[in-house]
Amino acid sequence: MNTDSYSQRMAQLSETGVRVDSPEAMIALGREVAAGLHAGSVLALQGGLGAGKTHFTKGIAEGLVEGLVEGLNCSLEVTSPTFTLVHEYQGGRLPLYHFDFYRMDSEDEVLRIAWDEYLDEDGVVVVEWPDKFPGLIPAAATWLSFDHDDGARIVKLLHS
Ligand SMILES: Nc1ncnc2c1ncn2[C@@H]1O[C@H](COP(=O)(O)OP(=O)(O)OP(=O)(O)O)[C@@H](O)[C@H]1O
Ligand SMILES: [Mg+2]
Repeated sequence: MNTDSYSQRMAQLSETGVRVDSPEAMIALGREVAAGLHAGSVLALQGGLGAGKTHFTKGIAEGLVEGLVEGLNCSLEVTSPTFTLVHEYQGGRLPLYHFDFYRMDSEDEVLRIAWDEYLDEDGVVVVEWPDKFPGLIPAAATWLSFDHDDGARIVKLLHS
């Protein structure tokens, strides 16, 4: 996608929000947003159960390997010692670390899985349920909200 359509998409996300009417379209939106990510980007995905956060993250992972020949072989998820708590995707333009705070009981528990070290990596950190432990989210993070709207979803850029 070219720079103009990327900027238009981001403007739409922050002004009106974007209505996304299928799981496939949610993945496609994640792929679009991935184009603007850089080393150190943190995305906080806020929204209720089943609002589409994981599908969007799948699109981010796909977008980061898009167009990279080596990505064809490396786009598979890499398991880590804490693989049930953080999902790592290597081999793309940037590594992606996907967290979900839903089942985490305390800030200490998150810190014990080396949250700070992942933030210091030159990669992208995406976290679902960030509002459980907002104090752990860096001030520079980009917050997106996901809401149900009949059968579809509305995605909004809250602040970045
Ligand atoms: N834009 C969409 N329109 C309709 N259905 C969607 C859309 N995005 C995702 N879904 C469906 O909603 C369900 C939940 O999606 P997903 O797992 O991505 O949500 P989630 O926000 O990660 O939920 P959780 O908080 O439980 O982790 C899936 O069945 C998926 O197919
Ligand atoms: Mg999820």
